[in-house]
Amino acid sequence: MADKSSRGLADVVAATTSVSDIDGENGRLFYCGYDIHDIAGRISFEECVYLLQRGDLPQQQDLDDFEDELNRSRQIGPTTEALLPHVVRNASPMEALRTLVSSLSADDPDAADSSVEADRRKATRLVAQLPILVARYEAERNGRPAVEPDPDLGIAGNFLWQITGQYPSDRVQELFDTCLVLHADHTMNASTFTARVIAATLSDMHSAITGAMGALRGPLHGGANEAVMNTLASIEGDVDAVDEFVRAELSAGRKLMGFGHRVYKTEDPRATHLRKMSEELSELAGDRRYYEFSRRMEQVVFDTKGLYPNVDFYAASVYHALGIPTDLFTPVFAISRMSGWTAHVIEQHEDNRLIRPASEYTGPRDRRWTDIAER
Ligand code: ACO
Repeated sequence: MADKSSRGLADVVAATTSVSDIDGENGRLFYCGYDIHDIAGRISFEECVYLLQRGDLPQQQDLDDFEDELNRSRQIGPTTEALLPHVVRNASPMEALRTLVSSLSADDPDAADSSVEADRRKATRLVAQLPILVARYEAERNGRPAVEPDPDLGIAGNFLWQITGQYPSDRVQELFDTCLVLHADHTMNASTFTARVIAATLSDMHSAITGAMGALRGPLHGGANEAVMNTLASIEGDVDAVDEFVRAELSAGRKLMGFGHRVYKTEDPRATHLRKMSEELSELAGDRRYYEFSRRMEQVVFDTKGLYPNVDFYAASVYHALGIPTDLFTPVFAISRMSGWTAHVIEQHEDNRLIRPASEYTGPRDRRWTDIAER
């Protein structure tokens, strides 16, 4: 029998990294040595991308230059433009975006260059292009022209502007920007590991990111935020209905999305921020229903199962209050995590060794071939 602790690679150190670190016992998360509690709400998403991809926080001039580079990099090439209406018609957001991200390499000027400098340029383009692709998806499926990005807004503000068609207040921009910072990186999560496995074959940045998008989509990973919203929306009645709902789900042996974590043995530090943001945004939106439901659900799940909410739980009511359609919640996660994925691909390429774990064979042995007529 396989050692149980290695099932799902739990506790296996699969890579060395200086991008991020987690202390699961004490519920702490660090980006390049900075505690998430210290930087959330203090650095912009653009600063966070710079930090993860380069290892240090930028000085003002570095940040100005980087923001200029991001603004120049959001162009979508003709191959992706041509593909967009087809995939929008036929595919759900994460399927479509996975395909569109893959197609970006066809027009990327550095596609054939595998140097670290080219990786950095590709990384910047991908961070700039994905929010535009999500906004284009949303416009296309609603049959309206895409809203042009506003040069005065950063990635967070522009995304809300393009998706909702409403100019976000400074406070709303700040809060969404913090959401992007909170989701930016998280050590060897499933999608980042996927990206590193692909990069470790010396495959290219776009292949690694396409794989990561596929891994993020699943409901046990980034797809959980959409599932949480669908759960909250499915509960009829007032907040007291939450207790019965949770108990029925758990006694039927079903998992509640947005709870539990492989690494954290206590509260996920990102949930601490998102809970507060959920309350503030619910107040601003004038509708506390899903915040109140979430608070009650958190309480009942903890009392019944001892499970804590993870990053996806309060992200659901936050994104809902921001006016983001539910099926774009996981794409929003991808917009943020693009920063971490690309940082990890660069790091993997800089000091590469093929990732090729072992397996333990559990099937039959010593079988003998028989002719097909005699089987
Ligand atoms: N609801 C109910 N029970 C749960 C939950 C949950 N959300 N999470 C874990 N458990 C229970 C399991 O049923 C299991 O119980 P058992 O030992 O009696 O069988 C025990 O806790 C351990 O759970 P595993 O699934 O084995 O833990 P693992 O470390 O493999 O999985 C995971 C972690 C996938 C996050 C799990 O907690 C889960 O499925 N949560 C719901 C999905 C989710 O929210 N995913 C997002 C995670 S954060 C992120 O990826 C961005």
